[in-house]
Amino acid sequence: MGYVCLIFLSAFFLVSMTSESFDAMEGDALVIKCPPRSSYVRITWYHTDSNKIIPAEEDGSRIFSSKRFLWFLPTSREDSGNYTCVIHYSNNGTKEFNISVQVHPYKQGICFPSQIRYPNNTGRGKIVCPTFDNYKNATIIQWYKDCKPIQGERYFKGDKYIYINNPGKEDDGFYTCQFIYTHNGKVFNVSATRIFVSNVKYSPLPPQILFPKHKDVIEVDLGAALSLKCQARLGIKKQPIAVVTWDVNSIPVKYFDFSRFHEETVFFEGHDQEYYRETTLHITEIKKEDLQANFTCVAVNEMENTKATVTLQLKAQCKDGKIYDAYIIYPKSRTSEANFVENFVYQILPDVLENKYGYKLCIYGRDICPGEDTASAVEKRIQKSRRLIIIVTQQLIHHEDLAYDQHIALYNALIQNGAKVILLEMETIGTYEKLQESLKYIIKQQGTVKWKEPPTGQPQSSNSKFWKHVRYRMPLTHKTSRSANAG
Ligand SMILES: *[C@@H]1O[C@H](CO)[C@@H](O)[C@H](O)[C@H]1NC(C)=O
Ligand SMILES: *[C@@H]1O[C@H](CO)[C@@H](O)[C@H](O)[C@H]1NC(C)=O
Ligand SMILES: *[C@@H]1O[C@H](CO)[C@@H](O)[C@H](O)[C@H]1NC(C)=O
Ligand SMILES: *[C@@H]1O[C@H](CO)[C@@H](O)[C@H](O)[C@H]1NC(C)=O
Ligand SMILES: *[C@@H]1O[C@H](CO)[C@@H](O)[C@H](O)[C@H]1NC(C)=O
Ligand SMILES: *[C@@H]1O[C@H](CO)[C@@H](O)[C@H](O)[C@H]1NC(C)=O
Ligand SMILES: *[C@@H]1O[C@H](CO)[C@@H](O)[C@H](O)[C@H]1NC(C)=O
Repeated sequence: MGYVCLIFLSAFFLVSMTSESFDAMEGDALVIKCPPRSSYVRITWYHTDSNKIIPAEEDGSRIFSSKRFLWFLPTSREDSGNYTCVIHYSNNGTKEFNISVQVHPYKQGICFPSQIRYPNNTGRGKIVCPTFDNYKNATIIQWYKDCKPIQGERYFKGDKYIYINNPGKEDDGFYTCQFIYTHNGKVFNVSATRIFVSNVKYSPLPPQILFPKHKDVIEVDLGAALSLKCQARLGIKKQPIAVVTWDVNSIPVKYFDFSRFHEETVFFEGHDQEYYRETTLHITEIKKEDLQANFTCVAVNEMENTKATVTLQLKAQCKDGKIYDAYIIYPKSRTSEANFVENFVYQILPDVLENKYGYKLCIYGRDICPGEDTASAVEKRIQKSRRLIIIVTQQLIHHEDLAYDQHIALYNALIQNGAKVILLEMETIGTYEKLQESLKYIIKQQGTVKWKEPPTGQPQSSNSKFWKHVRYRMPLTHKTSRSANAG
């Protein structure tokens, strides 16, 4: 039903020109209505082309007028054409409407509703039968969706509408009401079709940031550009309140005047009309201060807000891509008793190498949490270590089987020619005959650094000769030592 409205102002009265169209099936009843609602004196109906007035009902007349209504009981194919209703107002003004009527013949194999369309009503499930109100004594006999009869508990049928419980996209389509109209004891069929587009009210969901993950650390290069994407799901269908934005140290990016940061947002619907927004923070050039900053993505809808904060870290802190100076391999105590080796590994070694000399160590149990996929976690850490420190004790001799991480370590050290190995002989071994071949090989190449118990009363860390040899084998520190003298 096209609706065109043109308004002309003439000398004394208003004439508006409008056209509307109605469709009907051949042989059905058709009642059309002259559009205006305000009070009028009378309405006359014409055949537009012939200018012939259509009279009121007489006995046996098929087409007749009655106030605002024009009747076709029933329609015939030759009725297709233009009709005009002229409304006469009390101030002698008139208004004229042209209405186009199209009568469609039934055709075998063609679904009747496909041709008769009234305006779609997008709605929450209530589909009103079009033109039904024009018929004073009508009864709906069947509803169809896309030509198939509608059945089921999801549908509630009212006198002139059908109600779909909880409509979704799958309910979109052409809905036809077929009804009967009784006039002077004669029964007529009428059908009218309209498009339904489900218009479920948007529903917010608790905002969910899909990425980045909270506390993610993103590796960056100084001076480089960076784009941080944040994607959040905010609900079903387009939300009236939907914001996904970035804060830098709690200040929204939009408040930064300088152009190093700017953001860009897109939105889209996923499956089941899930509504997403994705905001990209563009940083034109990473500066040092960014490494200390918190970048927080904030997702807001009418329910609540959710945040995810990421920080930046330099990609590789040193040119060789290593992050540890040494990975420590040590025999695990088989008893729960504290022993010297564990004390050495957890206390003395970090105290001297890390605290005094600024090395960074990777110690299994301290830097690799139990529960991490051990094999690959160990391998990764070893690959990122410049040295392997192997603590040599009697346990290495008496237990042929090296711990799993020792195997990997040796494999990496010897075969892949990666990290350099430092052997710390914590207990006198005497003969190395019983050691694993690979260890014997290393000892042959470079010897071991031998621990000597410091004189009683002296701290363990004051074994200066020992530490001097260790440091000699360690890489150069990138931190100036806090204490030039180890004791
Ligand atoms: C109705 O149609 C006739 C013939 O096409 C035209 O002359 C007239 O201006 C139209 N009136 C309106 C209101 O559109
Ligand atoms: C009805 O009027 C429209 C213009 O308003 C015109 O295009 C159409 O041809 C007319 N139909 C008939 C059957 O005269
Ligand atoms: C309407 O027209 C009639 C006759 O042409 C005239 O007598 C009457 O005063 C007019 N009414 C108005 C409100 O102009
Ligand atoms: C429904 O009608 C509106 C307004 O008349 C129109 O913008 C929209 O495209 C129509 N939708 C369909 C599916 O026909
Ligand atoms: C209204 O329709 C019913 C059947 O649908 C019929 O029995 C009744 O006579 C009709 N009333 C009038 C006034 O036509
Ligand atoms: C009304 O429609 C039904 C089914 O579509 C058909 O069987 C019946 O003959 C029709 N009645 C008239 C008067 O056209
Ligand atoms: C970054 O966030 C952490 C944790 O909330 C906070 O302790 C720190 O002060 C924040 N840094 C800045 C620069 O705002």
